[in-house]
Amino acid sequence: MTLRRTACAALLAGATLLVTGAAHSTEIFDEDEVALILSHGPWPVKTDPDPSNRMSGKPAAIAYGKILFESNDLSIDRQRSCATCHQEALGFGDGIARGFGIARVDRNTPPLFNMRLNRWFGWDGKSDNLWAQSIAPILDARELGMTPEILKARLVETPNLADGYRDVFGAPLATHDAETAMVNVAKALAAFQETIVSGKSSFDRFRDALAAEDKAGIDAYPDPAKRGLKLFVGKGRCDLCHFGANFTNGEFHDIGMPHFPAPGRVDKGRYGGIQHLRKSRFNLLGPFNDDGLRATAGFTRHVRLTPKNWGEFRVPSLRNAALTAPYMHDGSKDTLADVVNHYSEIPEERLHQDGEKLLRPLHLSDAEKADLVAFLRTL
Ligand code: HEC
Ligand code: HEC
Repeated sequence: MTLRRTACAALLAGATLLVTGAAHSTEIFDEDEVALILSHGPWPVKTDPDPSNRMSGKPAAIAYGKILFESNDLSIDRQRSCATCHQEALGFGDGIARGFGIARVDRNTPPLFNMRLNRWFGWDGKSDNLWAQSIAPILDARELGMTPEILKARLVETPNLADGYRDVFGAPLATHDAETAMVNVAKALAAFQETIVSGKSSFDRFRDALAAEDKAGIDAYPDPAKRGLKLFVGKGRCDLCHFGANFTNGEFHDIGMPHFPAPGRVDKGRYGGIQHLRKSRFNLLGPFNDDGLRATAGFTRHVRLTPKNWGEFRVPSLRNAALTAPYMHDGSKDTLADVVNHYSEIPEERLHQDGEKLLRPLHLSDAEKADLVAFLRTL
């Protein structure tokens, strides 16, 4: 009896040690958890050029796209560029709650990493390709405030931009109408943005070590991050939406964030995104898709508008999350700890009312919240 009890106590103590990571921290994950963790890699994901953009992957277009991205000549007042809001040092975001160009916009500026992995672009997925998404800020009166005609005139009068255009597109600007010139500019911008990819994170090194059963590599990953990862794939059920190597299923959900950018003004989220997508001349079903067979347009052809889309926003990738504060489509969460608090105390009535079945309040302890944040910071 005594012996058995001692053995039992030793086992229990052993189990606790494993969980706190003081010994063999590899064993804190069971088989199912290991499989889930491995599903978040390998990284980087190999990608092919974008068939909808004949400039995708072309070095001359990439170089020209970078010049355009950083050029103030793309704004009506010559005061700002794409890089004003998408700053490299801030993970290609801007560090503020909502973007500010000529005026303030309604949404948070997302980082621009790993764009080739996106199916939809923008928080509402209003674009089905990267070049269409790059046209939007050029024309938005609150961002760069241009028209296709002014843009073309601007390029013509700016020698380095006009020469670059001719070299990349094989014809002088004068021979193209303003809309075609704008789409071409957007395709060069897209070719550049596709080259912004994030490197291996501390999580990726851990995942590779786990796949290779490399004990030293596994042990090098901090214990709080391991415990947070266990919550992420387990009790937290985070990876139902933040799925796969890029930590997103690429689709849209309502996680109970507010929908009012200003009193009396509603952000329709995915509902408005689908309406915009269908009307756009720049979608993959339209005349500017370079993929003649339209094989790229399957998702766009089949997208359906339902009342459930109201107030849904795209599941963001969590890679580089430590660099991209503030968070959410409206920038309303300042820190990762605030985000985790939201999931912990999420109001249940609100979710049920909106039909989101994947979420429930997690009621995490302070230690669990700290672990989850520690994990997110390793991405
Ligand atoms: C005023 C600040 C601002 C400027 C200037 C700006 N952006 Fe953005 N960008 C944003 C905001 C805000 C969003 C989110 C838009 C949305 O969801 O409706 C965004 C979204 C994007 C996205 C979608 C990313 C994703 O994950 O879906 C791309 C791509 C992008 N911008 C590229 C550009 C390019 C190229 C330019 C220059 C032509 C540019 N942006 C200029 C603020 C800006
Ligand atoms: C039902 C799908 C779903 C689940 C489950 C889910 N998320 Fe999210 N997550 C989203 C969506 C959608 C957004 C963007 C919401 C918005 O902006 O309105 C988001 C945003 C975030 C952000 C902000 C990222 C940024 O760049 O702004 C973080 C961090 C995050 N989630 C972490 C988690 C964690 C941790 C869990 C588990 C506790 C989790 N998520 C579970 C769908 C989900």
